[in-house]
Amino acid sequence: MAYVIAIANQKGGVGKTTTAVNLAASLAHYEKKVLLIDLDPQGNASTGSGINKGSVKLGTYQVLLDETDIASAIIHSDSGNFDVLAANRSLAGAEVELVQEIAREMRLRNAIQTIRDDYDYIIIDCPPTLTLLTINGLVAADGLLIPMICEYYALEGLSDLIATMRKIRQSGLNPNLEILGVLRTLYDSRSNLSAGVSEQLEQHFGEYLFKTDIPRNIRLAEAPSHGMPALAYDARAKGTEAYLALAQEIQQRIDKKVKK
Ligand SMILES: Nc1ncnc2c1ncn2[C@@H]1O[C@H](COP(=O)(O)OP(=O)(O)OP(=O)(O)O)[C@@H](O)[C@H]1O
Ligand SMILES: [Mg+2]
Repeated sequence: MAYVIAIANQKGGVGKTTTAVNLAASLAHYEKKVLLIDLDPQGNASTGSGINKGSVKLGTYQVLLDETDIASAIIHSDSGNFDVLAANRSLAGAEVELVQEIAREMRLRNAIQTIRDDYDYIIIDCPPTLTLLTINGLVAADGLLIPMICEYYALEGLSDLIATMRKIRQSGLNPNLEILGVLRTLYDSRSNLSAGVSEQLEQHFGEYLFKTDIPRNIRLAEAPSHGMPALAYDARAKGTEAYLALAQEIQQRIDKKVKK
């Protein structure tokens, strides 16, 4: 049964989507069956997986609004070798339309239950907000992966995300939601600031901080414009290697939990 990872941080541009796409491709490289769910109306995870957003008739929006079953909406990323539930522009309206629906926070979770056995990992790319779409992602997830840039204000706003996570646990919507890990992204090992903030993160998060960090690497930024994960675009790039290492670290972390 799949382990469901939500990638979230309401800060914009911290590498959520880059992590979602490249982690999906890296886990697929290790022969895992992966589904990537694009929960962001920007649809960047879909585009970065080589999917033309404009042609998506059935996607995350239609699943959330119960207009289709999830299995009928899943498509395949050839460049990434994983499955995708894609976002199209209509997802922007979901936030408003869902408000009137019953069990609005449970929509994605309920949909995922029906296909969970078909995958090893389900990865959810959340938008940079803490509104209903992200809440659907957190309610559906087993673990939360928080990407962070090692800059001065890195920790600012994080308390809102942690508070939301606690509320979701306490409300009973998803009592077992845990932090899978905190990931340093766009990391510059030569910068004193990065090193200083990284030390703070280590103190603050302890074992939650992934040992693997993701370096700032131009190939990671270029790959989406070619509609492919970095693994397909440049298998030897430093960024590609970092995401492969992250995939291994995550598999070990999750295997340990399952054995406990
Ligand atoms: N490790 C990296 N090295 C170089 N560029 C990166 C790296 N990670 C992300 N980027 C670039 O930084 C920008 C923001 O990354 P990304 O879209 O993954 O962030 P995000 O958190 O998903 O943003 P949003 O909050 O808008 O959804 C993109 O242009 C991406 O290509
Ligand atoms: Mg994004």
